[in-house]
Amino acid sequence: MAYSELFEPMLLGKKKLKNRIAFAPVGMCTADAEGRVTDQVLCHYVARAKGGVGLVIVEHTMSNYRYGLPGTGALGIHADTHLAGMLDVADAIHAFDAAAIVQLSLGLGRQAALHLEPVGPSAIPFEVREGSAPRGLKFFEGLTGGRPKKLSIAEIEELEDLYVAAVIRLVRCGFDGIEIHGAHGYMLANFLSPLSNRRRDRYGGSFDKRLTLALNLLRRSREVAGDDFVIGFRISGDEHLPGGLTLEDTVKIARILEEEGVDYISLSTGTMESWKYTFPEKEGVILPEAETVKKAVRIPVICPNIHDPKKVAQAVKNKKVDIVALARPLLADPQWPNKVREGRIDEIQKCIFCNNCLSTLFQGFTSRCTVNPNVGRERFVPEYAPPPRKSRGRPI
Ligand SMILES: Cc1cc2nc3c(=O)[nH]c(=O)nc-3n(C[C@H](O)[C@H](O)[C@H](O)COP(=O)(O)O)c2cc1C
Repeated sequence: MAYSELFEPMLLGKKKLKNRIAFAPVGMCTADAEGRVTDQVLCHYVARAKGGVGLVIVEHTMSNYRYGLPGTGALGIHADTHLAGMLDVADAIHAFDAAAIVQLSLGLGRQAALHLEPVGPSAIPFEVREGSAPRGLKFFEGLTGGRPKKLSIAEIEELEDLYVAAVIRLVRCGFDGIEIHGAHGYMLANFLSPLSNRRRDRYGGSFDKRLTLALNLLRRSREVAGDDFVIGFRISGDEHLPGGLTLEDTVKIARILEEEGVDYISLSTGTMESWKYTFPEKEGVILPEAETVKKAVRIPVICPNIHDPKKVAQAVKNKKVDIVALARPLLADPQWPNKVREGRIDEIQKCIFCNNCLSTLFQGFTSRCTVNPNVGRERFVPEYAPPPRKSRGRPI
């Protein structure tokens, strides 16, 4: 088999994965106005699971409505009315023998300026400086956020409670785990970062205190979900900002998270103020940061932004990372994993790094892909219909 190292099964926490290829979290904003699953959300995940990945990490999903993206189509699991749709998503992913994990978010934090009132650990606004955005997202340059409202202790505690309630819902839906979203300058990352967290209470004031919120979410999620439930953590290796989180900080954080029982680290990089690192114009940009973290921990490390099958296989074979998560490559071609497994490399429709997927999304349209016209319209493609249910029901 071509690139057989990619198709070696492995354990993620206690969950067996059939291969080392994941669908990275990719927020498509196609949920309904309340954040509930639509047919489009469901068929989008059928397409990627059917394509042969061993793990699907469902896009950033809001644990609370207020600080998420109300009305924008961002996915949510903040109410029981969201259970039915998310159960369908978990079932559809499992039908293709892929593990299903949800990236669970606290909301956008100080970067919420586009849609709602920015909030955060401290009242420090953000600014998207000239030269910080990648191709396709240059229109963000010059954007400045309003002064975020500093959250009170009671408001942070409420956020934690809502997060735990969301975890319980995901367990009930049958998901295999969650990925705590601590990356990209959103709410939880704001607490981790010395740039945005200047508090002087139990949620800030020192390196350890900036971790309080993350550790509370981790411990409380573990308590309600149990040891078999996978709990990962996504973090930006380096925020690439003066005064921001550095790779050295991230290595320390990853070690602490490992000690505290996190099952994997998913490396990303940058924030909205340094997006050219998060959505690079070429592949392999994030790998050095992931490699550094991998050397510091024993748990699996997931890395995005490697597109070429040969490079993906090398990264896994040489143990630079454990799993490669594909985001834009699987928008361009959901069948990437099956084609690699079957040696049909030449048939892969490649991502061209135009970032049209992001540019359309951030301008309020459905995400579009220059090389794959089916992106955003999977619900109309017969082969992406959810497979028939295997049983009439199961006790929940
Ligand atoms: C349209 C789009 C939406 C994304 N949404 C998320 C998200 O919800 N959560 C997240 O952590 N990263 C998100 N990302 C970042 C990807 O997971 C990934 O880290 C990044 O695109 C680099 O990997 P790639 O080169 O394979 O695309 C998104 C990327 C794209 C293109």
